[in-house]
Amino acid sequence: LSTTEVDLSPIAVGSAITAVWRGKPIFIRHRTQKEIDEARAVPLDQLRDPQTDQSRVKKAEWLVMVGICTHLGCVPLGQKPTDPKGPFDGWFCPCHGSAYDSSGRIRQGPAPTNLAIPDYAFESDTKIRIG
Ligand code: FES
Repeated sequence: LSTTEVDLSPIAVGSAITAVWRGKPIFIRHRTQKEIDEARAVPLDQLRDPQTDQSRVKKAEWLVMVGICTHLGCVPLGQKPTDPKGPFDGWFCPCHGSAYDSSGRIRQGPAPTNLAIPDYAFESDTKIRIG
């Protein structure tokens, strides 16, 4: 399938699901206000791959990303409640220790760039179409 529709309504604030689009894991996180605030408080000059949080989301509470580490392609941890989220309250790649923040931006470790944002659109307040 070239597009995937995802119903966001079952995803509670603070939790996440992993969808699949073109064989890739797509991380969808319903961010808390704390996660949004943390992401927006970071000065761009502290970022290896400088992008504002606002440029990475269509709605502040929904972060949608390709869940593939930009170093060598492992799937970072941080989707399950019991997963380590790393030192920046986001995702942690167990392969070589890259840490991403609550906007999915690379903050520590060998990965060169932020987690990628796929093409997607909101079809309604609670549904997105990826691709
Ligand atoms: Fe993620 Fe190397 S593949 S840190």
